[in-house]
Amino acid sequence: ISNFYRRIFLFSTDDSHFDVKADGVLMVNREVVLHKGHQTFFIHSWDSQGHKITIPVSVVNPEHHHGHHHGHQCGKHHDGDHINYNNQHHSTEVKSANHTEVVPVLQFPKSGGELRRRKRDWVIPPLNVPENQRGNYPLKVAQARSTEDRTRKLFYSITGPGADLPPVGLFTMDRKTGNLYVTQTLDREETPSYMFEIHAVADGAGQAEDPMEIIVNVIDRNDNKPYFTKEYNVNVAEATAIGTEVVRVEAKDDDEPDSYNSDVRYRILNQNPPLPTDNMFEINPVTGSIRVTGKGLDREKYPQYTLTVQAADLAGEGLTGQTQVILTVTDSNDNAPIFTQKSYNARVDENKKDVVVVRMIVTDEDEPQTPAWNAKFKIVSGDPGGLFTVKTGTNKQEGILSTANELDFERARKHTLLVSVENEIPFTPGLSVVTSTATVLVNVKDVNEAPVFDPKEKFATKSEDLAVDEVVVQYTASDPDTACKQKVMYKIMNDPAGWLNVDKDTGLIKVRRLMDREAPFVTNNRYIATIGAYDDDAVPATGTGTLIIQLEDVNDNAPIIEQREIKVCNKDPAPQLLSVTDKDGPKHGPPYSVSLQGMSKTHWTARMNDSRTGIILNLATELPSGDDSVIMRVADKYGLEQDSIIKAEVCDCRGEETTCFGHASNMPLIRGILGGSLLLVLVLVVLFVSLRKEEQKEPTSKDNIFYYNREQSREDDQDYDLSVFHHGLDNRPEVVGLSRQLISTDRQSPRFKKLANMYGRGGDDNML
Ligand SMILES: *[C@@H]1O[C@H](CO)[C@@H](O)[C@H](O)[C@H]1NC(C)=O
Repeated sequence: ISNFYRRIFLFSTDDSHFDVKADGVLMVNREVVLHKGHQTFFIHSWDSQGHKITIPVSVVNPEHHHGHHHGHQCGKHHDGDHINYNNQHHSTEVKSANHTEVVPVLQFPKSGGELRRRKRDWVIPPLNVPENQRGNYPLKVAQARSTEDRTRKLFYSITGPGADLPPVGLFTMDRKTGNLYVTQTLDREETPSYMFEIHAVADGAGQAEDPMEIIVNVIDRNDNKPYFTKEYNVNVAEATAIGTEVVRVEAKDDDEPDSYNSDVRYRILNQNPPLPTDNMFEINPVTGSIRVTGKGLDREKYPQYTLTVQAADLAGEGLTGQTQVILTVTDSNDNAPIFTQKSYNARVDENKKDVVVVRMIVTDEDEPQTPAWNAKFKIVSGDPGGLFTVKTGTNKQEGILSTANELDFERARKHTLLVSVENEIPFTPGLSVVTSTATVLVNVKDVNEAPVFDPKEKFATKSEDLAVDEVVVQYTASDPDTACKQKVMYKIMNDPAGWLNVDKDTGLIKVRRLMDREAPFVTNNRYIATIGAYDDDAVPATGTGTLIIQLEDVNDNAPIIEQREIKVCNKDPAPQLLSVTDKDGPKHGPPYSVSLQGMSKTHWTARMNDSRTGIILNLATELPSGDDSVIMRVADKYGLEQDSIIKAEVCDCRGEETTCFGHASNMPLIRGILGGSLLLVLVLVVLFVSLRKEEQKEPTSKDNIFYYNREQSREDDQDYDLSVFHHGLDNRPEVVGLSRQLISTDRQSPRFKKLANMYGRGGDDNML
């Protein structure tokens, strides 16, 4: 009974002559008489799962040697699977298993009759040969016998794998004796069993017995060490709880599975370093599971352990194999970042956003560049207004405190902040890790601040004809620097039309030049200027304010006729509709009135249409074809008037369809004269302009040359021939532009306005 079974099982026999001790030794209780030459009984056993195992034991006559004496031969057979033994001899001895010369006898089953028929049921028990047997080879392992050899000479032989088939000659048989030999050591791990046939032939008579099939089982010996297929390299977090499995090792053993020879047990032979204790880890001897047992895993002190683990077979008593388990202790956040300085002093200019106040360095014992090491800062107190912010520097061990908003020296000269630092991940629970803090005293530095206008935008509504030097508005600024009182002064920053003056000391804004609602810099009646206020600091700071002047309309523009030219037939002419416009606001526009001037009165009629916004001009007498100038005086609702000159091309035709076939013969002549005198006219115009500029300072009666008075016009109708003037100018558009500008500029002069008012108030005998 093998050690393996003995170790595990309980035994019983069904024959009271025999007994199996707890250590597996089969004992004879009292004398056994083999009445039939042999005696067979069964030994029962139960495994841990309660399965019953039954093996047959045959007690035979010692004359024929003793088969099955090794105990290895007890093939496992579950209940009911019986083995028939065929031993015809009368023998009475059970021999010692250690008897070296005793080998099993392989008896050919008895020939004939019933037995032959039932041959299939006959099972020859397997032959068990231990692997790696010592001794002189060939080793005798069994003997074949046939009862036939009593009557005649028999020869024995073997065929099959291991005999005459590969591996050829591993087993040999002595022809005469039937002795079976193994010629070299067997290896169960290589080939666990062999099967071949034994033949017996009679000398000269052929086959004496049916061939007997024999199985040779190679019995395992503990000839293989347990071994590990690898080294283990695992991480163990320093915060790992006691009892946690960190790794499970496994050894292999090539000996028979589920046998004692491959039953390994694990042990930790050595722990390096043996700190803080030499049993920081334990191993389950059966499963190989390694767990943490000791306190004090600390990456910062002992970053790595090497365990030498042994596996031993025979349940820990046999051959051994080793491996290394390398345990790398990984970081847990068991160290807080700590400020290298407990307090900081910083100075920051007021009014500056996003400036660095101070950089605070921290240190952390945890693994660098990990979330357990990276610092995270927070302003704990001292900043209710959210003036500061703290960020982590790129190296993750630095807190950068900066201003999130502008500081104001005048409101607070000092700020005392408490800043704390933690890591990106929380501290490992259960440890007494304390959050580190630092105090930052921020001193605010006063800087020169620009004066501030109140309000930022100032509105003033003024008439556009507010006289020069009249006050528009007073617009003042105050200096926020309360630490040292500064003087505030004013200047014009932007005044697109140059209309304004500001008093340097008082901020009083006056008219410098006459304003004009109709000027290009005015939109929606608004003129916008920028005023500056500056202090008397060595480096003055300037603040600005916006002045918006709402200009009230004054009737300072006379209406004009838009059309410059018309064409009419000299017979049954169609009336011409001319549009009238006035640059002033609607208040100072229509209804308009019109009157013809000078020569025009004799040839033309002019009247306002029904809405009194357009002029209906009619040729009253038939004129020869050619150009004529029509002078019309147009006045607005309040009588502000101005003469407009229309060039009328009179054609030789009838009615509305104006077709011109060349002009009267005198036209080229006129043009020639005019062309020649053009240069002279230009010189006159330039002269006229310079004269007008002079006159602005010292007005004279020359004003009346252009804006002639009615009385004069009546007397000098013949001399006043603007048509010539107009005609000549029309040939040179740039000159026309110049003349219009002249007229326009001059109309705006106060003198013109005065005149205009005078005429406006005069009689209306020339108006229609
Ligand atoms: C008068 O003439 C103007 C300018 O052409 C025009 O806009 C307006 O409609 C006319 N009114 C009437 C009532 O025809």
